[in-house]
Amino acid sequence: MNIFLTGATGLVGGELLVTLSKRSDVDKIFCLLRSKSEEEALIRIKHVFDLHQDEYDPSRIVPVLGNLFDDNLTDSLKTNKLLDQVDAIIHSAANTSFSRVNDDLVERANIGGLNKILLWAKDLPHLKTFLYIGTATICGKDVKDRIVHEDESPNLDATHLVKYTYTKMKGELLIREHLRSDQILVARPSIIMGDSRPIMPRSPVILWAMATINHLRLIPVNAHAQLDIIPVNYAAEAIVALLFANRKHHVYHISAGEAGATTALKLAKTLESYFDEMPPFNFINKAMLNQVKHWTRNRLAPESELYSYRKYLDYWKETFQDKSKLRLLFTGIDPYLEFIELGHVFDNTRLLEDVGIENSIPADIYINNSMNYVEKIDVLEGAIDP
Ligand SMILES: NC(=O)c1ccc[n+]([C@@H]2O[C@H](COP(=O)([O-])OP(=O)(O)OC[C@H]3O[C@@H](n4cnc5c(N)ncnc54)[C@H](OP(=O)(O)O)[C@@H]3O)[C@@H](O)[C@H]2O)c1
Repeated sequence: MNIFLTGATGLVGGELLVTLSKRSDVDKIFCLLRSKSEEEALIRIKHVFDLHQDEYDPSRIVPVLGNLFDDNLTDSLKTNKLLDQVDAIIHSAANTSFSRVNDDLVERANIGGLNKILLWAKDLPHLKTFLYIGTATICGKDVKDRIVHEDESPNLDATHLVKYTYTKMKGELLIREHLRSDQILVARPSIIMGDSRPIMPRSPVILWAMATINHLRLIPVNAHAQLDIIPVNYAAEAIVALLFANRKHHVYHISAGEAGATTALKLAKTLESYFDEMPPFNFINKAMLNQVKHWTRNRLAPESELYSYRKYLDYWKETFQDKSKLRLLFTGIDPYLEFIELGHVFDNTRLLEDVGIENSIPADIYINNSMNYVEKIDVLEGAIDP
């Protein structure tokens, strides 16, 4: 099989690239990279393999220069005759920012960029599968505290917490406009955080959220809300196995499901066992986030409930000194708290049955392997672009 992969320098795409490269039934992997030169692209690809000392075979991994924002992306892919041999496309590139300031970029990359790839893909002579890496969170915020099934989305009536999930939903609809249904495969991962192996995680994204929650200790979120989190190595193994499996469906959750889900409280217990010098975790009502924000602006009314957590306010003052830093952290973590509060668990029966893969290890257990890295995360740096 010859595969065209986008997003190979990212958290998921990097792990997909390494996983695919280990298969003897994969011939060439063409990787779309937004690099200035072929030399730079090769260095970036090599870096993906070097991170965990995986074997890199340059004869099988072929860089293709291109940016989802390029107006001529479709044409440059069409004129690259090497790509006529592609029989599967894995589209993992996306702008995954939750921040409103990036809404325009998110839309241009996730809808405009996807459209350019599809305009090329639809005329490929041998294309069997277009594997779109979507996201399970396209179900939106109207769904709360229950198991979510694949067939519930895409739903145009869903209300989205962030532009990112909206664009990922639109992406699924866009694919249907361009490709035959037998060519379409959608893998919808839940929340991907860290790696379950005792190695440096490929990216600190999402781990940043956990590191930040660890620093804050007083958390305005429902401690018991179910959390569907999987490690990136599980996500990549499941997605690649799905590509080669005998499938009964076109859409699959790549998720922890009921058996592998965790809660904020369970994660907190794991964190407490490592970082015991900080105050114990305390979870307060999500609505109190506003009081926290007022406190960081010295505008909190004296009778406010937040003052009953004086121990934590003193800890914050001592730890962060400048209240604007705390404001930055809470602004960055806010969308993550919103997602936690939803209590989504994404049914993974289809994946387990069709791929024959086991359930993922719950995040509160596998994350023990990443504690050294959690400790090193610069939470303020991460808060600038959450
Ligand atoms: N991480 C999660 O928790 C999660 C959960 C569910 C679904 N997903 C989905 O998984 C996929 C991969 O996410 P990720 O976490 O791996 O994201 P990521 O680490 O941010 O990686 C994004 C990748 O997309 C590439 N990219 C972004 N903009 C581009 C552009 N304009 N042109 C070309 N390439 C571009 C990036 O290239 P550069 O290196 O050049 O920036 C990078 O390789 C996405 O489709 C996302 O929606 C992720």
